[in-house]
Amino acid sequence: MSAPRRCVLAYSGGLDTSVAVRWLREQLGYEVVTLTADLGGDGRDAADITARALRAGAVAAHVVDARRVFVEHFVFPTLSAGALYEGVYPLATALARPLIAKLLVEVAREEGAVAVAHGCTGKGNDQVRFDVATAALAPELEVVAPVRDWDMGRSDEIAYAAAHGIDVPATFESPFSVDANLWGRSVECGPLEDPWREPPEEVFAWTANPATCDSAGEELTIGFALGIPVRVDGESLAAEELVLGLNTIAGRNGVGRIDHVENRLVGIKSREVYEAPAAVLLHAAHAALETVALPRDVAHLKRQLSGEWARLVYDGLWFGGLRNALAAFVASTQEHVTGDVRVRCARGVVTVTGRRALRSLYSTSLATYDRTDDVFDHAAARGFIELFGLSLRTQARVQGALEDLAPLSLPRQVRRAR
Ligand code: ARG
Repeated sequence: MSAPRRCVLAYSGGLDTSVAVRWLREQLGYEVVTLTADLGGDGRDAADITARALRAGAVAAHVVDARRVFVEHFVFPTLSAGALYEGVYPLATALARPLIAKLLVEVAREEGAVAVAHGCTGKGNDQVRFDVATAALAPELEVVAPVRDWDMGRSDEIAYAAAHGIDVPATFESPFSVDANLWGRSVECGPLEDPWREPPEEVFAWTANPATCDSAGEELTIGFALGIPVRVDGESLAAEELVLGLNTIAGRNGVGRIDHVENRLVGIKSREVYEAPAAVLLHAAHAALETVALPRDVAHLKRQLSGEWARLVYDGLWFGGLRNALAAFVASTQEHVTGDVRVRCARGVVTVTGRRALRSLYSTSLATYDRTDDVFDHAAARGFIELFGLSLRTQARVQGALEDLAPLSLPRQVRRAR
């Protein structure tokens, strides 16, 4: 008799993935190895997770502390790129998926598995991200999605769990579906499915209600090196510590709540509430530093490409050629994004109050309106404008003025000298 084929399951410890451990064995005959990646979400204990996995029937349970790799290799490059999906979502959930897929592939190779599995449903983006990232890294591995394939609703799952002695975690009682890691908390379902309804206060776990926050707030200085945040108020911090600390400070001042109706890759619009205090603060600070560090044309092109970066991350294409190409562009733009940004967090708002770069392109002697210090050549401006406007002047002379409004006869007051 040949040994059963192995499958590595991305395991959260929740009901879906606990039931999946047993189901993969029972229905598909896999020997199941679980993998849990600690990305700094809502704190769970590694010993507790492995115990749950083994109780559910896994033959081995791996728990990996992947927090630093997550922040250094996925989060910070995306911050440097200025990438926010649809202009608002810092992509916490989306960035975690390619890393978990990579870990699944590594464990699969180590454990001699022929398949990997995840607990995503058939309606979300995450299934796409896992499937596509795995395909990009290990096309030989099969990807199984039990929750997408089985025909069980919530109550069926609970019944299945009870029948197989799998305990139902207490968090399953919440009406919300939550995914969290260091870069943010994503919440959907329940009362949030009505986009007209204001999110109830119990949705939020990382941010104080801005209405009840201290109005003075807190001021802090973020130090960047090559576009990466490395210091808070002069203190050098490891990547994951820096993000964790800023989540606390910005969060207690109500910064980081995002309420968005988002376009999923699978064609659905969905109402999502995010909490991302550090991400909101750091994006504001990083963008402010770029205003003094980047030349105009680079800044403008980068803005366009940041949307591409956000979309490819959202769509699960992290391990693709476009991300590689964009990463080279972004890295080159960050060469002089070194300096400090001072921000104030108060009542849910982060305000930049100062920025300075080591090699700042901002020149006071060029910008000043004070005649004595001014080095700007005003006479040269005349010649520049003469040529800059030349084609429009030619066009008006030869083809007539391009006017899109009839002569304006607006109410007017005129007084003439006698
Ligand atoms: N809509 C977000 C995304 O696709 C977050 C999904 C979060 N999942 C959850 N179970 N709440 O990236």
